[in-house]
Amino acid sequence: MQPGKLITLEGSEGTGKSTNLGYVHDYLAQRGVPVVITREPGGTALGEAIRALVLSDQVIVPEAELLLLCAARAQHVRHVMEPALAAGHWVVSDRFTEATHAYQGGGRGIHTDIIEYLERWILGDLRPDLTLLLDIPPETGQQRIRNRRSTDRFEREDTGFFERVRARYLERARMSDGRIRLIDAARPLAQVQADIAHHLDEILAA
Ligand code: TMP
Repeated sequence: MQPGKLITLEGSEGTGKSTNLGYVHDYLAQRGVPVVITREPGGTALGEAIRALVLSDQVIVPEAELLLLCAARAQHVRHVMEPALAAGHWVVSDRFTEATHAYQGGGRGIHTDIIEYLERWILGDLRPDLTLLLDIPPETGQQRIRNRRSTDRFEREDTGFFERVRARYLERARMSDGRIRLIDAARPLAQVQADIAHHLDEILAA
């Protein structure tokens, strides 16, 4: 069977990632693609338990945070992503390794070599076929988050943290040979989704 494709959604807080994840799902499903929607950290029982820890109010040092996220990812890759892709499903993940480069690398300042080493070890040959990067200025994202009832450990970080996260995402997009598609998510939703549809059409036709 033709193996499936891996599509990941990335971006800082308040970019409308959840809404657009639903859009990607529906767009592919309406075209007869078997889709599995998942997320990081999470996607497995262990991963969801780690997610609760990582987003909780505990004090977690950057090294522990990185390793917890990688533990969740290892379980997710082996138990969910690889079997689904091998069975011909398309996997759409709400965040994946670019988030580690942006948040733990850019945001927390962990050296790229460490993140890349862990990435190679956990992923083997697996890489996303397409990454949709929803980008907005941190102030806009933070304004959108303020309207929510409660915030998590990351959402309470300051603007400087989110500036570094965004800068690393943008740098990774520039270096990605087209795999990471930058989408201006500050525009009205219809325009954002028209861009997403265009990128999906390309990968559907490939
Ligand atoms: P989300 O559901 O809003 O995407 O929340 C997940 C949070 O976890 C988000 O603030 C980003 C953070 N995160 C990392 O810091 N590194 C990672 O590798 C992943 C997958 C998520």
